Amino acid sequence: MPSIANVVVTGHSRGLGAAIASAFLENGSQVLGLSRRHNPELAARFGHQLRQVEIDLSHPAALAAWLDEGSLARFLTGETAAILINNAGLLQPVGQAGEQGARAIAEAVAVNVAAPLMLSDAFVDATRYSDDRRILHISSGAGRTAYAGWSLYCASKAALDHHARAVAADALPALRIASLAPGVIDTAMQAEIRATPLERFPLRERFDELKTGGGLSTPADVARQLLDYVLSPGFGAQAVTDLRTLAPAAVAE
Ligand SMILES: NC(=O)c1ccc[n+]([C@@H]2O[C@H](COP(=O)([O-])OP(=O)(O)OC[C@H]3O[C@@H](n4cnc5c(N)ncnc54)[C@H](OP(=O)(O)O)[C@@H]3O)[C@@H](O)[C@H]2O)c1
Repeated sequence: MPSIANVVVTGHSRGLGAAIASAFLENGSQVLGLSRRHNPELAARFGHQLRQVEIDLSHPAALAAWLDEGSLARFLTGETAAILINNAGLLQPVGQAGEQGARAIAEAVAVNVAAPLMLSDAFVDATRYSDDRRILHISSGAGRTAYAGWSLYCASKAALDHHARAVAADALPALRIASLAPGVIDTAMQAEIRATPLERFPLRERFDELKTGGGLSTPADVARQLLDYVLSPGFGAQAVTDLRTLAPAAVAE
Protein backbone atom coordinates (compact mmCIF):
# COMPACT_ATOMS: atom_id res chain seq x y z
CA MET A 1 0.00 0.00 0.00
CA PRO A 2 1.24 3.56 -0.62
CA SER A 3 2.33 5.09 2.70
CA ILE A 4 -0.21 7.89 2.23
CA ALA A 5 -3.90 7.02 2.13
CA ASN A 6 -7.21 8.61 2.99
CA VAL A 7 -7.98 7.34 6.48
CA VAL A 8 -11.28 7.27 8.37
CA VAL A 9 -10.91 6.89 12.17
CA THR A 10 -13.79 6.63 14.62
CA GLY A 11 -13.31 7.83 18.20
CA HIS A 12 -10.49 10.23 17.24
CA SER A 13 -11.30 12.72 20.03
CA ARG A 14 -9.15 11.01 22.69
CA GLY A 15 -7.38 7.82 23.75
CA LEU A 16 -6.16 5.34 21.18
CA GLY A 17 -8.21 6.89 18.36
CA ALA A 18 -6.57 10.30 18.86
CA ALA A 19 -3.14 8.66 18.76
CA ILE A 20 -4.03 6.69 15.61
CA ALA A 21 -5.31 9.83 13.88
CA SER A 22 -2.16 11.69 14.93
CA ALA A 23 0.12 8.91 13.62
CA PHE A 24 -1.55 8.87 10.19
CA LEU A 25 -1.60 12.69 10.00
CA GLU A 26 2.12 12.80 10.86
CA ASN A 27 2.62 10.27 8.07
CA GLY A 28 1.01 12.68 5.58
CA SER A 29 -2.44 11.12 5.23
CA GLN A 30 -5.74 12.95 5.06
CA VAL A 31 -7.83 11.87 8.05
CA LEU A 32 -11.60 11.99 8.58
CA GLY A 33 -12.41 11.67 12.29
CA LEU A 34 -15.83 10.69 13.60
CA SER A 35 -16.63 11.25 17.30
CA ARG A 36 -19.15 13.08 19.42
CA ARG A 37 -16.51 15.71 20.15
CA HIS A 38 -13.87 17.41 18.03
CA ASN A 39 -10.17 17.07 18.74
CA PRO A 40 -8.94 20.69 18.96
CA GLU A 41 -5.32 19.67 19.56
CA LEU A 42 -5.11 17.70 16.29
CA ALA A 43 -7.02 20.43 14.43
CA ALA A 44 -4.46 23.01 15.62
CA ARG A 45 -1.52 20.83 14.57
CA PHE A 46 -2.79 19.59 11.23
CA GLY A 47 -5.33 22.13 9.93
CA HIS A 48 -7.20 21.02 6.81
CA GLN A 49 -5.39 17.68 6.71
CA LEU A 50 -7.91 16.62 9.39
CA ARG A 51 -11.65 16.73 8.78
CA GLN A 52 -13.90 16.15 11.76
CA VAL A 53 -17.53 15.14 12.03
CA GLU A 54 -19.42 15.35 15.31
CA ILE A 55 -21.63 12.30 15.32
CA ASP A 56 -23.09 10.09 18.01
CA LEU A 57 -22.47 6.54 16.83
CA SER A 58 -24.94 5.19 19.39
CA HIS A 59 -27.74 6.33 17.05
CA PRO A 60 -27.75 4.04 13.99
CA ALA A 61 -30.44 6.14 12.30
CA ALA A 62 -28.26 9.27 12.57
CA LEU A 63 -25.28 7.36 11.18
CA ALA A 64 -27.41 5.99 8.31
CA ALA A 65 -28.63 9.53 7.51
CA TRP A 66 -25.05 10.84 7.53
CA LEU A 67 -23.94 8.01 5.23
CA ASP A 68 -26.86 8.71 2.86
CA GLU A 69 -25.78 12.35 2.67
CA GLY A 70 -22.55 11.18 0.96
CA SER A 71 -19.67 12.79 2.96
CA LEU A 72 -17.89 9.49 3.53
CA ALA A 73 -18.13 8.56 -0.13
CA ARG A 74 -16.84 12.00 -1.19
CA PHE A 75 -13.86 11.68 1.17
CA LEU A 76 -12.96 8.27 -0.26
CA THR A 77 -14.02 8.18 -3.88
CA GLY A 78 -11.22 8.43 -6.37
CA GLU A 79 -8.51 7.69 -3.82
CA THR A 80 -6.22 4.85 -4.81
CA ALA A 81 -5.61 3.88 -1.21
CA ALA A 82 -8.18 4.05 1.57
CA ILE A 83 -8.29 2.87 5.17
CA LEU A 84 -11.13 2.57 7.70
CA ILE A 85 -10.24 2.14 11.37
CA ASN A 86 -13.22 1.27 13.54
CA ASN A 87 -11.82 2.34 16.90
CA ALA A 88 -14.68 3.95 18.88
CA GLY A 89 -15.89 1.62 21.59
CA LEU A 90 -17.68 1.47 24.92
CA LEU A 91 -16.90 -0.73 27.90
CA GLN A 92 -20.24 -0.12 29.62
CA PRO A 93 -22.53 -1.68 30.67
CA VAL A 94 -20.26 -3.60 33.05
CA GLY A 95 -21.97 -6.11 35.35
CA GLN A 96 -23.57 -9.50 35.33
CA ALA A 97 -26.38 -10.37 32.97
CA GLY A 98 -29.57 -9.14 34.59
CA GLU A 99 -28.05 -5.90 35.81
CA GLN A 100 -27.00 -4.23 32.56
CA GLY A 101 -30.22 -2.57 31.40
CA ALA A 102 -31.82 -2.52 27.96
CA ARG A 103 -30.88 1.06 27.06
CA ALA A 104 -27.21 0.68 27.97
CA ILE A 105 -27.05 -2.61 26.03
CA ALA A 106 -28.61 -1.03 22.95
CA GLU A 107 -26.21 1.94 23.13
CA ALA A 108 -23.14 -0.27 23.45
CA VAL A 109 -24.19 -2.61 20.64
CA ALA A 110 -24.83 0.43 18.42
CA VAL A 111 -21.34 1.90 19.04
CA ASN A 112 -19.35 -1.34 19.24
CA VAL A 113 -21.08 -3.38 16.53
CA ALA A 114 -23.70 -1.58 14.41
CA ALA A 115 -21.54 1.46 13.64
CA PRO A 116 -18.41 -0.51 12.58
CA LEU A 117 -20.50 -2.80 10.39
CA MET A 118 -22.43 0.11 8.81
CA LEU A 119 -19.22 2.07 8.19
CA SER A 120 -17.51 -1.01 6.75
CA ASP A 121 -20.35 -1.59 4.31
CA ALA A 122 -20.36 2.06 3.21
CA PHE A 123 -16.54 2.08 2.99
CA VAL A 124 -16.47 -1.01 0.75
CA ASP A 125 -19.15 0.48 -1.49
CA ALA A 126 -17.41 3.87 -1.75
CA THR A 127 -13.98 2.36 -2.53
CA ARG A 128 -15.04 -0.12 -5.20
CA TYR A 129 -12.58 1.43 -7.70
CA SER A 130 -9.72 1.73 -5.20
CA ASP A 131 -6.48 -0.18 -5.86
CA ASP A 132 -5.95 -0.89 -2.16
CA ARG A 133 -8.50 -0.62 0.63
CA ARG A 134 -8.11 -1.82 4.19
CA ILE A 135 -10.45 -2.11 7.17
CA LEU A 136 -9.17 -2.48 10.73
CA HIS A 137 -11.53 -3.23 13.60
CA ILE A 138 -10.13 -2.42 17.05
CA SER A 139 -11.10 -5.52 18.95
CA SER A 140 -9.90 -6.77 22.34
CA GLY A 141 -8.62 -9.89 24.03
CA ALA A 142 -12.09 -9.80 25.63
CA GLY A 143 -13.51 -10.86 22.26
CA ARG A 144 -11.55 -14.09 22.58
CA THR A 145 -11.58 -14.80 26.34
CA ALA A 146 -14.73 -14.60 28.46
CA TYR A 147 -14.53 -12.30 31.52
CA ALA A 148 -17.17 -12.16 34.27
CA GLY A 149 -18.92 -8.80 34.27
CA TRP A 150 -17.96 -8.00 30.66
CA SER A 151 -20.48 -10.08 28.70
CA LEU A 152 -21.62 -7.12 26.61
CA TYR A 153 -18.07 -5.98 25.82
CA CYS A 154 -16.86 -9.56 25.16
CA ALA A 155 -19.80 -10.30 22.83
CA SER A 156 -19.42 -7.05 20.89
CA LYS A 157 -15.69 -7.56 20.28
CA ALA A 158 -16.28 -11.20 19.27
CA ALA A 159 -18.81 -9.86 16.74
CA LEU A 160 -16.10 -7.67 15.18
CA ASP A 161 -13.71 -10.61 15.00
CA HIS A 162 -16.24 -12.78 13.22
CA HIS A 163 -17.31 -9.96 10.93
CA ALA A 164 -13.69 -9.65 9.79
CA ARG A 165 -13.47 -13.38 9.13
CA ALA A 166 -16.67 -13.39 7.08
CA VAL A 167 -15.83 -10.25 5.07
CA ALA A 168 -12.40 -11.75 4.33
CA ALA A 169 -14.28 -14.80 3.01
CA ASP A 170 -16.17 -12.48 0.61
CA ALA A 171 -12.78 -12.07 -1.12
CA LEU A 172 -13.64 -8.65 -2.57
CA PRO A 173 -11.16 -7.08 -5.00
CA ALA A 174 -8.37 -5.02 -3.38
CA LEU A 175 -9.99 -5.34 0.06
CA ARG A 176 -8.17 -6.54 3.16
CA ILE A 177 -9.66 -6.65 6.63
CA ALA A 178 -8.43 -7.52 10.11
CA SER A 179 -9.73 -7.37 13.65
CA LEU A 180 -6.92 -6.53 16.06
CA ALA A 181 -6.57 -6.72 19.83
CA PRO A 182 -4.29 -3.77 20.66
CA GLY A 183 -3.12 -4.76 24.17
CA VAL A 184 -3.76 -2.86 27.39
CA ILE A 185 -3.42 0.89 26.87
CA ASP A 186 -3.31 3.81 29.31
CA THR A 187 -6.53 5.63 28.32
CA ALA A 188 -9.76 6.81 29.94
CA MET A 189 -11.18 3.33 29.34
CA GLN A 190 -8.53 1.82 31.65
CA ALA A 191 -9.33 4.45 34.30
CA GLU A 192 -12.97 3.42 33.95
CA ILE A 193 -12.00 -0.23 34.50
CA ARG A 194 -10.05 0.62 37.67
CA ALA A 195 -13.04 2.61 38.97
CA THR A 196 -15.40 -0.37 38.61
CA PRO A 197 -16.55 -1.96 41.90
CA LEU A 198 -15.06 -5.44 42.35
CA GLU A 199 -18.51 -7.03 42.57
CA ARG A 200 -19.28 -5.84 39.04
CA PHE A 201 -15.87 -6.82 37.60
CA PRO A 202 -14.08 -9.47 39.71
CA LEU A 203 -10.86 -9.28 37.63
CA ARG A 204 -10.38 -5.57 38.32
CA GLU A 205 -7.32 -6.06 40.56
CA ARG A 206 -5.39 -7.47 37.61
CA PHE A 207 -5.88 -4.11 35.84
CA ASP A 208 -4.96 -2.16 39.01
CA GLU A 209 -1.68 -4.12 39.10
CA LEU A 210 -0.97 -3.45 35.43
CA LYS A 211 -1.26 0.30 36.10
CA THR A 212 0.84 0.33 39.27
CA GLY A 213 3.40 -2.06 37.75
CA GLY A 214 3.89 0.06 34.61
CA GLY A 215 2.30 -2.64 32.45
CA LEU A 216 0.18 -0.33 30.28
CA SER A 217 1.22 0.71 26.78
CA THR A 218 1.00 4.36 25.77
CA PRO A 219 -1.54 5.23 23.05
CA ALA A 220 1.25 6.76 20.95
CA ASP A 221 3.39 3.58 21.01
CA VAL A 222 0.42 1.39 20.11
CA ALA A 223 -0.65 3.78 17.33
CA ARG A 224 2.82 3.73 15.75
CA GLN A 225 2.91 -0.09 15.75
CA LEU A 226 -0.62 -0.22 14.43
CA LEU A 227 0.19 2.18 11.57
CA ASP A 228 3.16 0.02 10.54
CA TYR A 229 0.92 -3.04 10.60
CA VAL A 230 -1.95 -1.46 8.64
CA LEU A 231 0.41 -0.22 5.89
CA SER A 232 2.37 -3.48 5.70
CA PRO A 233 2.05 -6.07 2.93
CA GLY A 234 1.16 -8.62 5.61
CA PHE A 235 -1.96 -6.75 6.71
CA GLY A 236 -5.06 -8.94 6.59
CA ALA A 237 -3.15 -12.22 6.19
CA GLN A 238 -4.97 -13.21 9.40
CA ALA A 239 -8.46 -11.81 9.84
CA VAL A 240 -8.17 -11.96 13.65
CA THR A 241 -4.94 -10.95 15.28
CA ASP A 242 -3.24 -9.39 18.31
CA LEU A 243 -0.72 -6.54 18.17
CA ARG A 244 1.26 -8.13 21.03
CA THR A 245 1.87 -11.37 19.19
CA LEU A 246 2.21 -10.15 15.60
CA ALA A 247 5.40 -11.59 14.18
CA PRO A 248 7.73 -8.78 13.05
CA ALA A 249 7.59 -10.36 9.60
CA ALA A 250 3.83 -9.82 9.46
CA VAL A 251 4.49 -6.10 9.75
CA ALA A 252 7.70 -5.72 7.81
CA GLU A 253 7.39 -8.24 4.99
N1 LIG B 1 -7.67 1.01 26.48
C1 LIG B 1 -7.46 -0.29 26.41
O1 LIG B 1 -6.74 -0.89 27.24
C2 LIG B 1 -8.10 -1.09 25.31
C3 LIG B 1 -7.80 -2.47 25.25
C4 LIG B 1 -8.37 -3.24 24.24
C5 LIG B 1 -9.20 -2.63 23.32
N2 LIG B 1 -9.47 -1.29 23.40
C6 LIG B 1 -10.35 -0.72 22.40
O2 LIG B 1 -9.71 0.41 21.82
C7 LIG B 1 -10.71 1.34 21.38
C8 LIG B 1 -10.38 2.72 21.92
O3 LIG B 1 -10.40 2.65 23.33
P1 LIG B 1 -9.82 3.79 24.29
O4 LIG B 1 -9.18 3.09 25.40
O5 LIG B 1 -9.08 4.79 23.49
O6 LIG B 1 -11.21 4.41 24.81
P2 LIG B 1 -11.59 5.86 25.29
O7 LIG B 1 -10.39 6.57 25.83
O8 LIG B 1 -12.77 5.68 26.17
O9 LIG B 1 -12.03 6.59 23.93
C9 LIG B 1 -13.18 6.16 23.25
C10 LIG B 1 -13.37 6.94 21.96
O10 LIG B 1 -14.61 6.47 21.38
C11 LIG B 1 -15.45 7.58 21.11
N3 LIG B 1 -16.86 7.29 21.34
C12 LIG B 1 -17.39 6.74 22.46
N4 LIG B 1 -18.74 6.72 22.36
C13 LIG B 1 -19.04 7.28 21.16
C14 LIG B 1 -20.24 7.57 20.49
N5 LIG B 1 -21.45 7.29 21.04
N6 LIG B 1 -20.21 8.15 19.27
C15 LIG B 1 -19.00 8.47 18.72
N7 LIG B 1 -17.82 8.21 19.29
C16 LIG B 1 -17.85 7.63 20.51
C17 LIG B 1 -14.99 8.67 22.08
O11 LIG B 1 -15.25 9.95 21.54
P3 LIG B 1 -16.38 10.96 22.08
O12 LIG B 1 -16.53 10.73 23.56
O13 LIG B 1 -15.88 12.30 21.68
O14 LIG B 1 -17.60 10.57 21.30
C18 LIG B 1 -13.48 8.43 22.18
O15 LIG B 1 -12.82 9.14 21.16
C19 LIG B 1 -12.05 0.79 21.87
O16 LIG B 1 -12.69 0.11 20.81
C20 LIG B 1 -11.65 -0.19 22.95
O17 LIG B 1 -12.62 -1.20 23.12
C21 LIG B 1 -8.95 -0.50 24.38
